[in-house]
Amino acid sequence: MLDQLQTLQANALQALEAITDEAALEQWRIAHLGRKSPLMQVFGQMNSLPKEERPLVGRTANQVKNSLEAALQAKRHALQETALQRALQTERLDVTLPGRPLPLGRLHPITQTMRQIYHIFAQMGFQVYRSRDVETDEYNFQLLNFPPHHPAREMQDSFYIQTETDRGDNPILLRTHTSPGQIHAMRAVTGYHGRGALPENPPPIRIILPGMCYRYEQITARASIQFTQVEGLAVGKHITLGDLKGTLSDFARRMFGQQVRSRFRASHFPFTEPSAEMDIECFVCAGAGCSVCKHTGWLEILGAGMVHPVVLRNGGYHPEKYTGYAFGMGPERITMLKYRIEDIRYFWQNDMRFLEQF
Ligand code: DAH
Repeated sequence: MLDQLQTLQANALQALEAITDEAALEQWRIAHLGRKSPLMQVFGQMNSLPKEERPLVGRTANQVKNSLEAALQAKRHALQETALQRALQTERLDVTLPGRPLPLGRLHPITQTMRQIYHIFAQMGFQVYRSRDVETDEYNFQLLNFPPHHPAREMQDSFYIQTETDRGDNPILLRTHTSPGQIHAMRAVTGYHGRGALPENPPPIRIILPGMCYRYEQITARASIQFTQVEGLAVGKHITLGDLKGTLSDFARRMFGQQVRSRFRASHFPFTEPSAEMDIECFVCAGAGCSVCKHTGWLEILGAGMVHPVVLRNGGYHPEKYTGYAFGMGPERITMLKYRIEDIRYFWQNDMRFLEQF
């Protein structure tokens, strides 16, 4: 009996060695200390032993039981300890690491350019005036002095919303440029609506008109069906071509750098007379000639001119008492030149790899 107890203890302790998790430990407890375990059976068989053997067997059995319970406790602690160590390894937190940056939204590159343009003209006293994207043929073309079959009207192939047959000769379309805003702004100031006498002393105007424009054309790297423009308009007494040149040259310096040179070339727009286009000296090659300026040394950035007398009159300003200048530029083109972006389609494709660079 005593030998049996010794073997039983040795086997149990040996089995305990191999255990690595709590579940196996519980199995072990049931097998070696549970009610049906060999050890407990020894206690059960006490009565059948000769009287004089009982104290020794009983004491030994109790010792075995105590030693197994102590080993169980020790093993349980050891398992908990390793579990803790493992957790400390895998769930380690380095509190000295710098924080992870939160992904911050940013402004679209065109919005950034637009805001820069607003800022520069605001410093020169220009207010922002917005007008609708959906226009009538009358405002988009007729009041801007485009005659019905003017070639420029075909050039700007338009998105018509209601066709000519629906609305006679005044169909509804998406504006092809921000210039119709000139008429809306002048009429808002003068109160003139196209009929009757011109108002006596309308106040002057100094505004920029930003907005989205739409043209029904083939999408290419240089042309988009949707793009922004910023239009400018100043109307008052004694406004001259010199004012236009001074304002736009100063704009170019503030936008592209104080050293930048600009030049005006004669051009033609139906709503201005005379008309011009402004170039700035190529900032990539400093005028020496490169692929960006197509080896001319100059970059075209806007159209401009003195407001045509017909347009002034359509807005309610007497063309013999008032003069004005206007200009129009494309923020996409300016942004492309500034960052040397080669394809206009990037702007409205919403590809994060492109947008995140600004
Ligand atoms: N509306 C013209 C365009 O879409 C741009 C423009 C040129 C606007 C000359 C003007 C201007 O106000 O004076 O191409």
